[in-house]
Amino acid sequence: PHQWRGVIDEYRELLDIPADTPAVTLGEGGTPLVESRWLSGLTGAEVWLKVEGNNPTGSFKDRGMTAALSVAVHQGAQAVVCASTGNTSASMAAYAAKAQIKPLVLVPEGKISAGKMAQAIMHGAQIIMVRGNFDDCLRLSRGLAEEYPVALVNSVNPVRLEGQKTASFEIVDRLGDAPDYHLLPVGNAGNISAYWLGYQQYADLGRSTKRPVMRAFQAEGAAPLVLGHPVADPETKATAIRIGNPASWKLAEAAAAESGGRFASLSDEAILSAQRGLAANDGVFVEPASAVGVAGLLAELEQGESYAGKTVVITVTGHGLKDTVTALEGFGPVVETVVDAEVEAAAEAAGLR
Ligand code: F0G
Repeated sequence: PHQWRGVIDEYRELLDIPADTPAVTLGEGGTPLVESRWLSGLTGAEVWLKVEGNNPTGSFKDRGMTAALSVAVHQGAQAVVCASTGNTSASMAAYAAKAQIKPLVLVPEGKISAGKMAQAIMHGAQIIMVRGNFDDCLRLSRGLAEEYPVALVNSVNPVRLEGQKTASFEIVDRLGDAPDYHLLPVGNAGNISAYWLGYQQYADLGRSTKRPVMRAFQAEGAAPLVLGHPVADPETKATAIRIGNPASWKLAEAAAAESGGRFASLSDEAILSAQRGLAANDGVFVEPASAVGVAGLLAELEQGESYAGKTVVITVTGHGLKDTVTALEGFGPVVETVVDAEVEAAAEAAGLR
C-alpha cells in the first residue's frame, strides 16, 4: 500500500521549484474529497467538499508551507517571517520547527483565534502583535524581509502557490476530470490564484478536459474584490479572511475573469449559518472563514442560480477546532443536562423513557 509522501514528493515534477530541493514535509495534502449529501440534495448537483482541515496543522496553508520552507531551507535561510490572520503562522511555525529554523510571526493584536495562537506558541514561534490589521502586518513582514536576513513566506512568495496548486491536482486525480464549478473563500487571494494555476496546468497537460468556473466569496465587511477597491478597516467574525487589501489581487481577478467566474460577499450571519449547516448535515466541522464557499452556494441558490446536473467542488479551508469560541457564539444558547451517574437518570434526561 502506498504511503502518501506529502505534496512535494507526490507532485515534484509538476512544481516549479529547484529539482534537488529536499522536502520539509509533515505529510500534508492527500486530503479527503467528501460528497456533501446535504448540498447535492439542495442543488441537484454533485457537490464535493475538499476538506483541507485534514492537513497536519488543520488548514490548506500546509501545502504552500512545505514548498516555501523547503526552498527557503535549501537556500540557506536561518529564519522565516510571515504576516497572518492565524493559519499561515500556525503552519509556518510547524514547518520551521520541523526544519529547525526560527519562525517569526506578525499578527493583528487581539484578532487571532486562541487555537491558532496556541499552535504558533507550541511550535516555538516568536510572536509579534501589531497594532493594526493583517494588511499592516504584511507590510511589516515585507519590510523585515527586505532589510534583514529572514525569508518571507507569505503567498507573495510564488513558491507558496506552487505548493497550494496541488489541491487542484488532487481533485482532478480523484474525480477523473476538473469540476464544472469551484467555489472557495478569498482573503489574501493566494489560494484562488494557486487553484487556477493548478487547473490550468492539468488542462494544458491533457489531464483534464476542462477548467472550472471559479466563484470566490468574501465576508461583507472585508470584500475588496467585490467592491473593486481596498477596504481600510476590514471587519468580520471570520477572522481568517479579515483582509482589506489582498496581495494576490491581480491574480485572483485574472482567475475569476479567465474562468468566467466572479466574486460575491456574504454576511457574517450567513457564514456562521453555513458553518452550522455543514457540521450538522454533513459531519464536517470547519472554521467560519472555511464555510464561506458553502454560504456562497446557498446564497446563489436563494437568488435562483442553478447548479443542477453539474459537478461542484467547494474548498473548506480549515478545521472547526481552530476557533471554537466563534462557532459556539454562532450556535446560540447550548442546553446542557447534568444528571446523577445512573442509567435511569440519563435515560430520563435523554427522553428515552
Ligand atoms: N480560509 C482560511 C481558513 C484562511 O486561513 C485563509 C487565509 C483563507 C481562507 C483565505 O485564503 O488568503 O489564500 O485567499 N488565511 C491567511 C492566514 C491570510 O494568515 O492564515 P487566501
